[in-house]
Amino acid sequence: DEPLDELIAGLTVDIPDHPEPGVVFRDLTPVFADGRAFRRMIDGLAAPGASDPRAAALAGPAPHPPGDPGFDVVVGVEARGFLLAAAVALDAGVGVVLVRKAGKLPRERVSADYALEYGTATLELHTDAIRPGQRVLIVDDVLATGGTLGAAIALVEQLGGVVAAVSVVVELAALAGRQRLAPHTVHALWTT
Ligand code: PRP
Ligand code: HPA
Repeated sequence: DEPLDELIAGLTVDIPDHPEPGVVFRDLTPVFADGRAFRRMIDGLAAPGASDPRAAALAGPAPHPPGDPGFDVVVGVEARGFLLAAAVALDAGVGVVLVRKAGKLPRERVSADYALEYGTATLELHTDAIRPGQRVLIVDDVLATGGTLGAAIALVEQLGGVVAAVSVVVELAALAGRQRLAPHTVHALWTT
């Protein structure tokens, strides 16, 4: 099998000047749509729970340990993160929790603001969605500036959750999201 980063890179479509001039948008929808790539992507995202996360994430399908996957719940970030988090959680035999954009969650919730290029946005999490001490795997498709995942981490920690790992499909290294999320380690299946 080809390396996972090459498989993802080969299926990703670059869109110049989207959503604005000067930005090259990485469209991952063809990776999601490819059954073999989706399978390997889900295995790779769960891999930080395994004993040698970096190696497991980069070398292909992770072993599915019969016991502890290393996390108690998977958090997905709206919207594309939902698809990934649901599949990872189902595979691992744990539940999936939603970090949503403001105004979508109906019950008591915590909120975190994060910077966009212009202005701010808000993410929310139901207060009873994470129990103190739970080990949380946070999943999203793209790490760009890290604003989104930084807010997701803040929400999980505000509820007493322990961020076991942060997994993304693609890390856009030039935007330095990894540095922004330190000391949390980001496991990226493809860094570009
Ligand atoms: C994209 C992507 C990440 C985020 C990354 O989501 O799915 O969540 O941006 O950017 P950042 O690291 O600079 O915060 P978007 O907000 O476009 O939402 P969508 O999944 O609903 O399209
Ligand atoms: N692709 C997909 N989602 C994104 C990107 C991108 O290039 N940048 C920020 N979110």
